[in-house]
Amino acid sequence: MRLLSLLSRISLLAAIRSVASASASASNSSYYNPVLPGWHSDPSCTQVSGTFYCVASTFISFPGLPVYASRDLINWKLISHAWNRESQLPGVSAQTTGQQQGMYAATLRHHDGLFYVICEYLGVGDSNLGVVFTSPDPFDEPTWSDPVTFRTNLIDPDLFWDDDGKAYVATQSVVLQEINLATGELNQPPISLWNGTGGVWPEGPHLYKKDGYYYLMIAEGGTETNHAITIARSRYLKGPYEAYENNPVLTNRGTDEYFQTVGHGDLFQDTEGNWWGMCLATRSGPEWQIYPMGRETVLFPVTWDEGEWPVLEPVRGKMTGWALPQTNRDIPGDGPFNSDDDIYGFGKGTKIPSNLVHWRVPRPGTFSTTEKGLRIIPSRNNLTGTPFSDTTPELTGQAGLSFVGRRQTHTLFTFSVDLSFAPTVPGQEAGVTVFLTQVNHIDLGVVLLAPPHSEGKGAGKSQLAFRFRAEGTGGPPEPKIVPVPSAWAGGKIRLQIQTLNATHYGLAAMPASNPKAKLVIGVASAGLVSGGNGSFVGSLVGAYATCNGAGSGTACPRGGNAYFSRWRYTGEAQYISATESTRA
Ligand SMILES: *[C@@H]1O[C@H](CO)[C@@H](O)[C@H](O)[C@H]1NC(C)=O
Ligand SMILES: *[C@@H]1O[C@H](CO)[C@@H](O)[C@H](O)[C@H]1NC(C)=O
Ligand SMILES: *[C@@H]1O[C@H](CO)[C@@H](O)[C@H](O)[C@H]1NC(C)=O
Ligand SMILES: *[C@@H]1O[C@H](CO)[C@@H](O)[C@H](O)[C@H]1NC(C)=O
Ligand SMILES: *[C@@H]1O[C@H](CO)[C@@H](O)[C@H](O)[C@H]1NC(C)=O
Repeated sequence: MRLLSLLSRISLLAAIRSVASASASASNSSYYNPVLPGWHSDPSCTQVSGTFYCVASTFISFPGLPVYASRDLINWKLISHAWNRESQLPGVSAQTTGQQQGMYAATLRHHDGLFYVICEYLGVGDSNLGVVFTSPDPFDEPTWSDPVTFRTNLIDPDLFWDDDGKAYVATQSVVLQEINLATGELNQPPISLWNGTGGVWPEGPHLYKKDGYYYLMIAEGGTETNHAITIARSRYLKGPYEAYENNPVLTNRGTDEYFQTVGHGDLFQDTEGNWWGMCLATRSGPEWQIYPMGRETVLFPVTWDEGEWPVLEPVRGKMTGWALPQTNRDIPGDGPFNSDDDIYGFGKGTKIPSNLVHWRVPRPGTFSTTEKGLRIIPSRNNLTGTPFSDTTPELTGQAGLSFVGRRQTHTLFTFSVDLSFAPTVPGQEAGVTVFLTQVNHIDLGVVLLAPPHSEGKGAGKSQLAFRFRAEGTGGPPEPKIVPVPSAWAGGKIRLQIQTLNATHYGLAAMPASNPKAKLVIGVASAGLVSGGNGSFVGSLVGAYATCNGAGSGTACPRGGNAYFSRWRYTGEAQYISATESTRA
């Protein structure tokens, strides 16, 4: 009797709960952009069996073409890189001279049990090197194939299968070609589909088939503040395409929104059948001057009724839209979630975490984990090198820059590492940097300086010093040299980069054993690592080692290896407008 009533009370409660959750799942959700903060431009995404997958552009950084997975559209885990080993594209990285060449906008799709990443690599040969990587299981990085390659002059390949199983590539301009995915052969001549609505650079096309129409969604207006998404449709894949009369379907051009440059997106559905989109945006405000994280990835809900044009919700920091899938961080693989902090020790034999990347493919053996932490063997070139020098290619950084970094993923953060370093030859240096390109970086190094003069006190003695040096957009601050206090010598030195506010970094040093003795060595504007020569990329924070040109060939003088331990990146705040932020 009592049991029965208890049971009926439990089932009544369960019934109430299920009514509550049904109405909760029907009501719309709120969330904050960007969902993939930090440098993530040109996202392309798809959903397979309840998991969402996205890829982003990476230019010359390596490993490249990161694939993120999420089950809730908010928590994105780095599961692999489609371009993850030199043998996939032998020699290609080292031949690339430009700072913003390499892997441009990719498209990620799933078809017949295989994941595809199609992309183009710029900077080798007379045309772009098209690449198609496939994997049956993107959670397992080595399963990404060597690429099938093709040549084209037009960037931003889409990949679309028609109902008859034929595969098509649409590229910039916008033209369509059938592709043989086994050989990379493209049907000639390309068929012109649509030229957009008149904005410059019609590019970043994606094709979708829905309700008997082929929809062609593109980016135009350039990837700066005029950027926009426009759309056209046709009953036939090869056209003619009719432009939507209310184009653009998404843009923040001509607004004073904090999120600018909104464009270059992709659309996909969740398991409830609701449509969503991801695109790039820059948190810069209309001034568009300080945006060290470059182009980031934002999520927007899409209402796409049968036979109708899609309605894309304007991109803001605070969004509302379809009920999000339930929060779920249960995703396979050992990569980190993009918005999480780094807490790395680099013990001997441990794997270097997958969110740490290099500028081009590094020389073999440069980075290894040891009992003293992450060992970096210095490169002859420093972070600047001499870009575009034909005479000393080993000093351009093309033949390996001893740099490793992670994306700045928060407006406000603190990054630090502990350095063990015993240089013996002048010029040997190891340090931390905010790095956008080889001509945009803000460095704090420990360096052995040659004797400043040959007479008087201290003559003939090399000096161990902190050196703060920066270069970049808008002109650098003066370099600074501060002798390493003699009491600190021999111990680990903690080097720190901290945002003082949304526009300035402070670079500081302290004994690892006594952080209170912190010395702020330099302050630099994030404007140095915003736009200019690095307008397509976004800032990385990380560590480097160099001998500043000493030595010969590609080799530094012996010694001068740097050991980094206790790597910490802590996100502190995320700006969602010029005046509001969320805590990390
Ligand atoms: C797009 O512009 C090119 C160059 O003017 C032209 O040849 C092509 O026919 C145009 N395509 C369409 C679909 O209008
Ligand atoms: C929920 O969000 C979708 C997508 O933005 C929108 O179409 C719909 O009108 C919203 N519903 C309500 C009740 O606000
Ligand atoms: C960095 O390397 C370049 C080219 O080798 C050189 O001109 C420059 O002086 C170096 N910077 C420092 C601080 O040594
Ligand atoms: C940000 O910090 C820098 C360096 O301390 C300072 O010059 C600048 O005025 C600060 N900006 C704001 C808005 O407080
Ligand atoms: C940086 O930009 C300036 C001005 O556009 C240009 O002259 C220079 O070659 C660029 N440097 C690199 C390394 O791209």
